[in-house]
Amino acid sequence: MENLKNNLFLRACKKENIDRTPIWIMRQAGRYLPEYRKVRTNSDFKSMVKTPELATEVTIQPVDIIGVDAAIIFSDILVIPEALGMNYEMVESIGPSFDWTITQESDINRLSNIDLSDKLSYVFEALKMTKKELNGRVPLIGFSGSPWTLLTYMVEGGGSKNFSKIKNLIFNNPVLAHKLLELISETVSEYLSLKIKCGVNAVQIFDTWGGLLSPDLYKEFSLKYIKKVIDNIEKTDEPIITYAKGIHHSLVELADSGTDVISIDWTHNIGEVRKLIGDKVAIQGNMDPTVLFANTETIKTESVKVLDSYGFGNGHIFNLGHGILPDISPANAKALVDIVKEESKHYH
Ligand code: CP3
Repeated sequence: MENLKNNLFLRACKKENIDRTPIWIMRQAGRYLPEYRKVRTNSDFKSMVKTPELATEVTIQPVDIIGVDAAIIFSDILVIPEALGMNYEMVESIGPSFDWTITQESDINRLSNIDLSDKLSYVFEALKMTKKELNGRVPLIGFSGSPWTLLTYMVEGGGSKNFSKIKNLIFNNPVLAHKLLELISETVSEYLSLKIKCGVNAVQIFDTWGGLLSPDLYKEFSLKYIKKVIDNIEKTDEPIITYAKGIHHSLVELADSGTDVISIDWTHNIGEVRKLIGDKVAIQGNMDPTVLFANTETIKTESVKVLDSYGFGNGHIFNLGHGILPDISPANAKALVDIVKEESKHYH
């Protein structure tokens, strides 16, 4: 393992003995930080993603400002559909919007056959630059969307209320859905392997939309392809984390998928999830992100509840159950980090 000054996060992923619980926060590089907004005033979101100097700068901000135990590269899951030929815009206060979507069989031919290392060279440059700037202070996490979550965006064209287009596809043309998931899985495995080559210490697969599916369909359209990605990643000992939002029904199967860590949302009791799967994998999570609207005392009560529910011992990485919201105060985010660093000592 690389010589890192703080490797608590990686050791927790491997369930090794440590003396406190590490913490990082999903979407930690983002709009709740005035320092991020300052960079963002001169640059739109996509230009930031595509400019390695800017991506590096905002990736490191939360390490300096709130003191998290890991950095996650500033980028987006949507760079993959874009690299495949689906251009998108990030519309202010609405979200992503693609200029075309997949509706029929022949649309597969509109997806480009790409050389990822060339097409996404800006991501790999940003990773190398960030590794250099971090200089071993904390581990760096790379990420991708899961095949199912990426397909959802490629078919819906953006966010959605009831996801009728993607649901329509899986019921009316499951063969096409599987073809696309196959293609995306190959791309995602290669993408994460290339990130590992650039020095990331762990990778997280975001299955944000897995929870749209019933248990059987989740296994058929999401879990199967998460497994494929995991099987095909070329790596040495970098842990794989799977973020599973809204998955109450298949945690045991997910724990058997080859993932090293399962990241859960706040609707679970983390202690019960540990009882169910905790000897197989580590668990990341799972405080409700909106707790950070509360005062420090409540943040303390709620974060200690999560620590206490997980209980004594190793294999816990503290995080929120989903990304930090843009209107959270940085002081509260910092308070959470400090509280977890201090209070978690009692559980080790
Ligand atoms: O965690 C981090 O700090 C790393 C950066 C990161 C971003 N997006 C930056 C971002 C990560 C890991 C993501 C993942 C991502 N992107 C997911 C999976 C995780 C999740 O939140 O469920 C998804 C579904 C996306 C797609 C996406 N990107 C949407 C739907 C939106 C719009 C909604 C929003 O929050 O504004 C984005 C934009 C986005 N991605 C922002 C950031 C910092 C905000 C852009 C801005 O500055 O205007």
